[in-house]
Order: sequence, then C-alpha cells, then structure tokens
Amino acid sequence: MNNVLVASNRGPVSFTVSDDGELTLRRGGGGLVSGLSGVAKDDGVLWICAALSDGDRSAVRLAPGGRIDHAGYDTGPLRMLDIPPATFHRAYNAVANSTLWFVNHLLYDIPNAPLFGTKFEREWESYRDYNGAFALALAEEAGHEARVMVQDYHLTLTPAMLRAERPDLRVAHFSHTPWAPPEYFSLLPDEVAREVLEGILGADHAGFLTDRWAQSFMDCCEALLGAEADRVGRSVTHDGRTTRIGVHSLGVDGAALWERACEPDVESHMTALKEQVGDRRLIVRIDRTELSKNIVRGLVAYGEFLGAHPEWHGKVVHLAFAYPSRHDLPEYREYTASVQRCAQQIEDEYATEDWDPLILNVNDDYPRSLAAYRMADVLLVNPIRDGMNLVAKEGPVLSPRCALVLSREAGAAAELGPHALLVNPYDTSGTAAALHDALVMPEQERRARRDRLHAAATALPPQQWLAAQLDALA
Ligand code: G6P
Repeated sequence: MNNVLVASNRGPVSFTVSDDGELTLRRGGGGLVSGLSGVAKDDGVLWICAALSDGDRSAVRLAPGGRIDHAGYDTGPLRMLDIPPATFHRAYNAVANSTLWFVNHLLYDIPNAPLFGTKFEREWESYRDYNGAFALALAEEAGHEARVMVQDYHLTLTPAMLRAERPDLRVAHFSHTPWAPPEYFSLLPDEVAREVLEGILGADHAGFLTDRWAQSFMDCCEALLGAEADRVGRSVTHDGRTTRIGVHSLGVDGAALWERACEPDVESHMTALKEQVGDRRLIVRIDRTELSKNIVRGLVAYGEFLGAHPEWHGKVVHLAFAYPSRHDLPEYREYTASVQRCAQQIEDEYATEDWDPLILNVNDDYPRSLAAYRMADVLLVNPIRDGMNLVAKEGPVLSPRCALVLSREAGAAAELGPHALLVNPYDTSGTAAALHDALVMPEQERRARRDRLHAAATALPPQQWLAAQLDALA
C-alpha cells in the first residue's frame, strides 16, 4: 500500500511499438510531466496514469497489474490504466482537450462552437467513466489515510468519486491550466459545470498556479454553485464541506536544467545552429503547436517587425520550434497548417540568397531546444492564456543574456512580469515593437533583467512545489 500517490492523464513515460513488436520507452512531454517526473521518481511516489497509445497498451498488458516498474523499466513506481480506447478517446479528446481545455483557455470561435447536443452527452458519460477508473485504481492502491494528488482538467471528477469510496484519504487536486471567469465557464451545460466544480471540491485542497486562476475558480463556485468563498483565508465551503484553495507556483530546477544543457548532444546542436545562423541575433520561441500558444500571431508580429525595421534585415533570425501536439483534433491540424503558411509568407517576402529570416522547425528535439535557449538573444512567449508557461522560466536559466517578451496572460507573468517586456497577445503591432525593444536593449540592462528572471524562475523548483502540496494535506 502506498502513502503518497499522484494521478494524471499523461505519465512520465510513453511507449512506441515498432513493426517487429519491440517496445521503446520515451519521456512524456508537457508542463505537468516536466515538473513532476524527477521528484516523483526520487521520492518513491506511486504514479497512476492512462495508457495513451497502442505502445502504452502493449506495455500495460505485459506488466503485472499494470505496474510498468515491475516489468523491468526504470521509471519509479508507475501504474498505467488500460482504459477502453473508445472511452479514452471521448474522455481525452472530446471532453478534456476539446471542451475543458477550450473553456479554460478561452479558445472557442464563439459563433460556431461549442455546441452541446446528444453527442456530447455520450462523451461526458465517457469522461465520467474515465475519471471513475482513476478513482477506483487510487482507492485500490492507497494505504490508510494516504495522501493523493490528482492532476489537471482530465481528472476533475476523480476527487469527489474517490472521497465517496475512501473517506479516510487526504486528497488534493491541482489545475495546471488557467481557470475561466464565470461568464465563460458557464458556456458548459449547467449540470456539467456543476459536476466539474463539485468534483474538484471533493478534494481537501484545490491548487492553482497563480492567484488569478484561484480567484476565478472561487468566482465560479460562488456564481454557479452558490458556494461560499473566503477570499482572505482562501477556501470554498459548499454542501457543508470546506475545501482549502492553494496557490503553488511552479518553477524550474535551475541546476539540473543547466547540467542537462551542458551535455555533448546539446553542445553539438549549438555548433550546428551557429553554422546555420552565423553571428546574427536570435529570437527564439519553443512551443507545442498548441492553439493557446498563439504561434501565428507571434509570426505575424515578427513579420511586422521586419516590415518596420529594414535595418535589421540580414542581422536577425527567428528560430521557431513548434512541436506536434494533439493531432487527433482537426483544430490542431488546421492550426499547424496556418503556422506553416504564415512562416512561408515571411520567407517569401524577406528571404534573400544569403539570409533566412525564419527557421521553423516542427520536429520535437529536446537537446536542440536546449541549444536554442542557450543561444537566444530574445525569447518570445506570447500565449493567449497559459496556466504558467515553463518555457518563459527555462529560457532565462539557460541563456546568459536573453530578453523575455512575455504575454501578460501567461501565469508566469505574475512572477516574471516586472523583469520581462509584457505584451498583449492579440496586439501584434505591440508585440513587434517589444521584439525590437528586446533586440536593442543595452547589454547591461539585459543582463541585469536576465539575472532577476533567473532568480524568479528558479525560486520554486518542482521539489518545493510537491512538498508544499503534500504539506497542505498534512
Ligand atoms: C498541459 C497540461 C498537461 C498536459 C500537457 C500536454 O501542460 O496541463 O496536463 O500533459 O499540456 O498535453 P497532452 O495531452 O498533449 O500531453
């Protein structure tokens, strides 16, 4: 039986299966996994996640009781749940990623979406089943009065379900995303909105990355449930139970990241990048190709900057790394195509025989990303809305002189804002002007700002983030 458990949709590793049936293990991606992987493994926490692919399902079937670590992989205690593919698809793609993610990041094209009809009822049923599978596995694995940390929008119903099964447990829920204001959250069907809020309130502690998202959650509980929110003591009381609300920012482990970024594979990418761009200045962005990351407006802003500043032609290169994400969803495939179209327009308009103004790369390559961070003069992070954004924190750790152009709608702006150049993510002209300001920022100022960004980015490494949440359940 386990004393500390973590539950999340994506686990620390994933498997791919080759034609000859062999399984290969890779580390998982995304903010949640980057933050939790090291600490969970080191502290012997049991991690429960879903099998996401055929490779994962094959691995689960070969592992006794779904325990991947018992099948000889060096993962730390890890159980993967083999949820029926159709149920998983509806819960993950249709509800979590196409609905709850869209609501909390304000991503809907409102005249056309959302549309909640009978199809959605079926999808919601699957989301309940998927949350139920996690609640069941946690109830099976948790020791008496164990502490359980349920992660993110995929698992909003699990805390209440788990409490019904195992009232002895101490349960936390953590949202890695922003939280929508009530007017937008109530786009959801009333019953669904209520179930999501009451699901999270089934926890003893509900955590958020910034005060802004915690306040929005409390606003929703007041407006939609008629719950009582204590803004000063940070808690919500509903149906006779009180859930504490916590704000736990997540930063990076600066020393570990720096060590990784000094390995030979990163150094050789740096050499290759230097050959490619020469001594030109570098504006870097690194994202999943995710609607909320606002890559298209970022490229439009770079185009506007080039239009307004011919003196920079031939002297700057924009490295845009946009890795594939959620390609099961048509919106994401279309978005990837717009990113590529937009990049092509910039190429067509500005490229010369000896100058490539933009290098767009869509293949995931972690060491190459680390190399780009190290060489960045400017880091562009302009999401429409983001729970935190770890790229904004990793960049200043690895680059000795990068200036950060940062969206005011990223959670990270709460801590990094004073030392960054803040932009409105919809304002491409304002973003273009900030890119210029960042490029011409005097050396002394950019180094001083970078040092303050570095300090803020590493103030709360994942170890502390995890410890603070466990303490909150003590
Ligand atoms: C965000 C979410 C994580 C999620 C990640 C990647 O960071 O908060 O929970 O794992 O995006 O999402 P995906 O489902 O594409 O792995």
